[in-house]
Amino acid sequence: MVIILERNKKLTGLRWKLVSTYLLLVFLTILLINSFISESLRINYVNEKKISLLTQSNIIADRLLPYIYEINSKYVNEMVTDIVMRLSIELKSRVMVSDLNGKILIDSYNTFEGERLNEEELSLALLGKNVAKQHFLPKYGRVMYVAVPITNKGRILGAVFISSSLEEIFSNIKRTMEKFMILSFFSLAITAFISFVFADIISNPIEKLTEAVKKMAQGKFNQKVEVYGNDEISNLGRAFNLMTTKLEQVDKQRREFVANVSHELRTPLSSIKVLSESLIHQDDTPKEIYKEFLRDIDSEVDRLNKIIDNLLYLVDLEKENIHLDYQLTYVNYLIQKVISSLKPLADKKNIEISFVEKEKIQVMLDKFKVQQSLINVIGNAIKYTPENGKIHIEIYSEQNNFVIKVKDNGIGIPEDELPFIFDRFYRVDKARARKTGGTGLGLSITQQLIALQQGEIKVESEVNKGTTFYILLPLKAAV
Ligand SMILES: Nc1ncnc2c1ncn2[C@@H]1O[C@H](COP(=O)(O)OP(=O)(O)O)[C@@H](O)[C@H]1O
Ligand SMILES: [Mg+2]
Repeated sequence: MVIILERNKKLTGLRWKLVSTYLLLVFLTILLINSFISESLRINYVNEKKISLLTQSNIIADRLLPYIYEINSKYVNEMVTDIVMRLSIELKSRVMVSDLNGKILIDSYNTFEGERLNEEELSLALLGKNVAKQHFLPKYGRVMYVAVPITNKGRILGAVFISSSLEEIFSNIKRTMEKFMILSFFSLAITAFISFVFADIISNPIEKLTEAVKKMAQGKFNQKVEVYGNDEISNLGRAFNLMTTKLEQVDKQRREFVANVSHELRTPLSSIKVLSESLIHQDDTPKEIYKEFLRDIDSEVDRLNKIIDNLLYLVDLEKENIHLDYQLTYVNYLIQKVISSLKPLADKKNIEISFVEKEKIQVMLDKFKVQQSLINVIGNAIKYTPENGKIHIEIYSEQNNFVIKVKDNGIGIPEDELPFIFDRFYRVDKARARKTGGTGLGLSITQQLIALQQGEIKVESEVNKGTTFYILLPLKAAV
C-alpha cells in the first residue's frame, strides 16, 4: 500500500506536469517536423518525376517526328511500336501516341489503339501545350499524366501521352517516414527520461520545503533546508532558512519575555503574600506593625502597577504605525523642565545637576516621548549615583543630529553588562534594584521612544567612576 502511494506520488503534481509538458512539446514538434518533411519530400519527388516525364515525353516526341507521316505503313508502324514499347519498359510507364485528332495510334498496353482518348491533358497537348497532372485512379492508385505535342516547325502532328504510377514514390516516402517515426519514438523516450530526472531536481527541494513548512506549522521552528546553486528555488530555500532563524529568535524572545514577566510579577506578589499571611496569623499585632506591613503591601502593589503600566506601554510602542505627535519643540526648555521636575529627588541625595546649553535647539519632535526618555535617563542618573554626586547635562549639535548628553559620577556599569542594559527587565544589580524600585523596563522603553524618531541612544560607563548616556536625535525630523 505504502509503495503504491509512493509510486503515485512520483507521478502526481509538479513532476507529472513537467514531464507531460515536455512530452507534449516534443510530441508536437515531432508531429510538425514529420508533416513538414513528408510534405516537402512529396513535393520534391513528384516535381522531379514530373520534370523527368516531361523531358522524356519531349525526347520521344522528337524521336517519333520523322516517322509520324508514315505511321500507317506497316513497317514504320512496327518500328515505332517497338521504340514505344522499349521506352515504356524503360520508364515503367504506359506510353501512347495519338494523331492530330486524339486518336490513339500506338499504346504500349495495346488496348486503346484506334480509339479516341478524351483525357484533358491530351486535348491540351494537341493545342500545343506541355501538360503534367496528378490523378487518383481507384485501380492503380496515384498516377501522373503527362502529354506533349509532336510538332514540326510549329505544326502540331500528334501527341505523346504518358501515364506513370506515383505509388513507388509514395511508398518510398512512407518508408522514410517510418524510419523517422522510430527515431521520434526514441527521442520521446529520451525526453521522458530526461524530463523525469529534471522534474525531480525541481520538485525535490519543493517537497522538502513543504515538509519543513508542515513541521513549522506544528510549532517546530528549528527547520532548515539544504540549499544548492543559485536559482529561484534555492533562493526560496535561503529565504526560508532566514525566516526560520528569525522565527526561532522571536519565539525564544517570546518565551523569555513571558518567563521574565511572570518572574517580575511574582516577586511583589510573594512579598504581599508573606506580609498579609503574617498579619493574619499573628494575633494582637501592635498597630504600628500593622500599619508598616500595610504600607509595605501598598508599595508592592504600586510596584506591580508600575510594571504592568510599563509593560502595556512597551507593547503599545511595538505596534506598527504608531502615531508620533511631532511639534516644534524648544529642546533646551524641555530639558530644564525635566530637571526641575526631578530636582526634589536629586536634592534628597544632595546631588547637583548642572546643565550646559552649548546650543539652543528648536526642532520638530514628539515632545512627550522625548520628555519621557529624559525622565528615564536623568532619573537613572539620580538613582544610580550615590549621595553628594554630580550630574552634568549638555546639549549640542553634531552633523545632522543634536545630542543630549547625561553624565553622572555614580556607580557605573560593568563593561560586560553594558550590552544588555537596554533589554527588558535587565538590571545590573538585582538586589539593589528592588530597593530603588526599578522595573528594568525604563531603558528598553527609552530606546524604543528614541528609535521611533530616527534617533539613537548610546552609553559609556566605568564602574565607580560614572556613566554617560548620549541621546542623538535628527535636527531635521522626517515627519
Ligand atoms: N546612570 C546609570 N548608572 C548606573 N547604572 C545604570 C544607569 N542607568 C541604568 N543603569 C543600569 O541599567 C539598568 C536598566 O535600567 P532601566 O531600564 O532604566 O531599569 P531600572 O528600572 O532598573 O532603572 C539599571 O537597573 C541599572 O543597573
Ligand atoms: Mg530606570
